[in-house]
Amino acid sequence: MKIFITGGAGYIGTHTCVELLQKGYDLVVYDNFSNSSAEAIRRVESITGKTLTLIIGDIRDEDTMMAAMEGCDAVIHLAGLKAVGESVEKPLDYYDNNVHGTLCLLRAMKINNIKTLVFSSSATVYGNPIELPFTERHPLQPTNPYGQTKLVVEEILRDLYRSDNSWKIIILRYFNPVGAHPSGLIGENPQGIPNNLMPYIAQVAIGRREFLNVFGNDYPTHDGTGVRDYIHIVDLAQGHIKALEALELPQCTPINLGTGQGYSVLDIVKAFSNASRKEVPYIIAPRRPGDIAEFYADPSFAQEFIQWSASKSLEDMCRDTWNFQFKNPDGYRL
Ligand code: NAD
Ligand code: WQD
Repeated sequence: MKIFITGGAGYIGTHTCVELLQKGYDLVVYDNFSNSSAEAIRRVESITGKTLTLIIGDIRDEDTMMAAMEGCDAVIHLAGLKAVGESVEKPLDYYDNNVHGTLCLLRAMKINNIKTLVFSSSATVYGNPIELPFTERHPLQPTNPYGQTKLVVEEILRDLYRSDNSWKIIILRYFNPVGAHPSGLIGENPQGIPNNLMPYIAQVAIGRREFLNVFGNDYPTHDGTGVRDYIHIVDLAQGHIKALEALELPQCTPINLGTGQGYSVLDIVKAFSNASRKEVPYIIAPRRPGDIAEFYADPSFAQEFIQWSASKSLEDMCRDTWNFQFKNPDGYRL
């Protein structure tokens, strides 16, 4: 089976490519390298000892994409912009890349008669929790343009499926992906100052940044700091394969990929210090605007529907993040 992976050179993409190659799938990665590089793909090939087809292109370039996907059987769609703060500053870029880009992809798929799709949505589509854990039936009320683009795409996919139920579409709602491949060859490679907690902590531990700002310690959580459902990137990547393999079920279905377990910012700091044997100095800073106190998944639907559940611990997440950071102090730069 040949899979077309948009955004396959990125953080989630590279880990998904490794799992797919190891299971014997043929891959075509399509990426414009706006947040990645060919080095990431070279490392995927070195981990697996296998090769894939890499095509550099933008998902909004329909003609190039149409030619690139010829002969593929299914698509995993990961290409997109993902920074919440930036999406507030540049909403048009986000709608253009994430929504217009996805429309181009769906048209190209239709013309190529490829009707199997796994889409990377996000827990951010739920917005402020009305009740926890988040089940897939929770109301959808994203609070920022990035989340809105994910919701709009989900709605487009539901309409598409209603119009033609020979499409096989699975919508994956990721919680907070962290960690790296145990080889230490691939991992998250943020450009500039990391937006997210785990890469920030890793850069503090390696000495690239002086201290962590803990955004608020007065939330109604067990220690006052924000609680999230962190999920190891390898578990997440394997969720894509389970989803693909379950695609015989002709439904346009959203599925949470989370562990069901919430950890606070200070829980993560402590676990990371233990894993890296490094101090992670921090200060308590004001709350970050738009942050939610606490959220975590109800992962039971994934277990039932695609026979997937996360197996890696917080310790694994911290150890593998540190291993990647330690071996690649400046990211993929050689
Ligand atoms: P990433 O930035 O590492 O990977 C995205 C990849 O897509 C990059 O390689 C980038 O170069 C490519 N890309 C971006 N725009 C493109 C375009 N127009 N044409 C072709 N390629 C393009 O991000 P990631 O963390 O791997 O996220 C992958 C997907 O999962 C994104 O859609 C993101 O919104 C979604 N997601 C990520 C998280 C997270 O926390 N990492 C959580 C939920 C959902
Ligand atoms: C986690 C916790 C922060 C940085 C974001 C997106 C979401 C999804 C995953 C794509 C919060 C705290 C953080 C720091 C801190 N991405 N924190 N100091 O905000 O849950 O989710 O990434 O779909 O859509 O919103 O993740 O890692 O930024 O924050 O104290 O320097 O860490 O306040 O409590 P978040 P995060």
